[in-house]
Parts: sequence; C-alpha cells; structure tokens
Amino acid sequence: MQRMRPWTLLLVAALVLGKFGPPALAAEEEAERRALVRRGARLWSPYCGACHNARPASERSPAEWDTIMLHMRVRANLPAEDARALLEYLKAR
Ligand code: HEC
Repeated sequence: MQRMRPWTLLLVAALVLGKFGPPALAAEEEAERRALVRRGARLWSPYCGACHNARPASERSPAEWDTIMLHMRVRANLPAEDARALLEYLKAR
C-alpha cells in the first residue's frame, strides 16, 4: 500500500475530528445532562418534600433555582451529585 501523503492525513484527521470531535462531545454532554435530569426527577419528591411541600420546578426560573439550590443544598446537607441532579431537573422544566 502506498504511503499516505500529508494532505491525505490532514483530510482524514479533519473527517475524524468532524465526526468524533466537538459534536460528539456535545451529544455526550447532553446525554449526561439528561441522565442527571432523570435522577433529579427521582430525588425531587423524597428530598424536596421532606421539610416542606416539594416546590414544583415551574414555580421558579432557572436563575432562581440556581440561588435556591445553594441554600437548600446546605439546609438538606445534600451530596454534591444529588444537588447537581436536582438542579438540572428543576431547571429543565
Ligand atoms: C432539611 C429541610 C429542607 C429540605 C430537605 C429542603 N428544604 Fe427548602 N426550605 C427549608 C426551610 C427551612 C426553608 C425556609 C427558608 C429558610 O429558613 O432557610 C425552605 C425554603 C425553600 C424555598 C423558598 C420557599 C418560599 O417560597 O419562601 C424553596 C423554593 C425551597 N425551599 C425549595 C427546596 C427544594 C427544591 C428542595 C430540594 C432540593 C428543598 N427545598 C429541600 C428546608 C428544607
């Protein structure tokens, strides 16, 4: 087989990056976010309903949930991963 010329290598690299580079990364992040949302949905009722009525996500804006979760995370002594999942869930609706 003939040795690949530099421009061929460049072309192959561009194709591979195009296919598996940033777009694939974005899809991976989106999948991870969705998994967090699902997890947050399961945690919401038992966690957020323990001390007061579980507040529905639609009650506040995403920016408000950012602030509220800083406070409730401390109040409820939530593990970091659970707090992240709950925040993604609350902001997703
Ligand atoms: C350990 C008990 C506890 C848990 C668990 C808890 N909260 Fe709270 N929450 C409080 C208390 C107490 C307040 C009243 C404000 C204060 O004194 O800090 C409050 C206030 C709030 C408020 C403001 C209510 C209002 O309209 O004045 C929101 C919104 C809220 N919590 C959301 C949540 C969410 C979302 C979760 C789940 C992640 C959660 N809370 C879990 C104790 C808790």
